[in-house]
Amino acid sequence: MKLQAVIFDLDGVVTDTAHLHFLAWRRVAKEIGITLDEQINEQLKGISRMESLARILRSGGAEQRFDEPQRVQLAQRKNALYVESLRQLNMSSVLPGIRELLNELHVNGVGVGLASVSLNAPQILQALGLERLFDFCADASRIKHSKPDPEIFMAACTGLNVEPRCCIGIEDAQAGIDAINACGMLSVGIGTALLQADLRLASTDELSWASLQTFWLTKHRQQAV
Ligand code: G6P
Ligand code: MG
Repeated sequence: MKLQAVIFDLDGVVTDTAHLHFLAWRRVAKEIGITLDEQINEQLKGISRMESLARILRSGGAEQRFDEPQRVQLAQRKNALYVESLRQLNMSSVLPGIRELLNELHVNGVGVGLASVSLNAPQILQALGLERLFDFCADASRIKHSKPDPEIFMAACTGLNVEPRCCIGIEDAQAGIDAINACGMLSVGIGTALLQADLRLASTDELSWASLQTFWLTKHRQQAV
């Protein structure tokens, strides 16, 4: 079976905005008396803005203190801090190996999709100078369920007009790996702690057209046996 498309997560795969999300949430959390550590942060990757806030409030035992309008305000404050921090992004903020991989996928006629639940995704791709290298970006504003629900990856497959089993998904979050697997795509995890990834790589450095091709062929040979 031919590989038809590769679908990328954004934060933590294409660029290191995962850390910027953390810094913005940590500041907002501190303002309301909650200490946010890296461990909770791991559980926010791939999770929408409002759901992330709900998890932070839960972790600090503060769920009852904030009603819906106050939560919206907190989420807006976090986003304002986050968007401010995005001003530091430029074409050199793309993680190692990603731009080269995107170019090679194009040259080899493999579709390229984005499956990020971030509402800031379009402006981030623009800041990185990558928007033309993506054939289809799933629209986060139309997505009802955060990862690990497969909805955003399915939307990317639909937009690219490909079947999930003909695709590879790349993620840095456990929720994202679970979403990819739930679609029936092959999953590539960036980070050694991810469970159930079909291929685990320590960093994007190790991602290349050659490594993806080998992975694809090996998996399909195994299935054929
Ligand atoms: C990605 C990130 C999450 C973030 C979500 C929403 O999935 O991994 O940490 O909460 O996008 O991002 P946004 O930019 O819309 O607040
Ligand atoms: Mg991510």
